[in-house]
Amino acid sequence: MSTDIESILKKYKPGRREYLIPMLQEIQDDLGYLSEEAIVKVGSFVGLSTTKIYGLATFYDQFRFVPSGKVQIKICHGTSCFLNGSQSVIDKIKEETGIMPGQTTRDGIFSYEIVTCMGGCNNGPLICINGEYYTGVKAEQLPDLIKKLRFIIEND
Ligand code: FES
Repeated sequence: MSTDIESILKKYKPGRREYLIPMLQEIQDDLGYLSEEAIVKVGSFVGLSTTKIYGLATFYDQFRFVPSGKVQIKICHGTSCFLNGSQSVIDKIKEETGIMPGQTTRDGIFSYEIVTCMGGCNNGPLICINGEYYTGVKAEQLPDLIKKLRFIIEND
């Protein structure tokens, strides 16, 4: 058991399934995703099978089961951003990276997720790349942006 998972589980009482989701959230906040090791350890801690834990966790969009890419993109698909064209931005990111939300590209460079509001509703569509916000994003900007980010990571 990694020290991080162990120290998180120590805060809870063994066998208490009502704390399953907070436990998983805390582990994901710490590791960035839910590793197989984490699922197994949480399962034995609360007394549920690994399959059950996966089943429950996959029910929630917030959980990831693979590490995030070096470039993490959040795309807002809240009402304002949707009305300003976020769907075309999402489609273009999907096309450029070849992955679905919550996945990571094979080269480990990109991952993205769709969120519901990032508090910049008047300037949508909004995306956030490794903590940096981009407003009024147009789908046509994405190929160059993705190419530039890939170049930076590959040459870092
Ligand atoms: S709806 Fe996109 S920032 Fe609020």
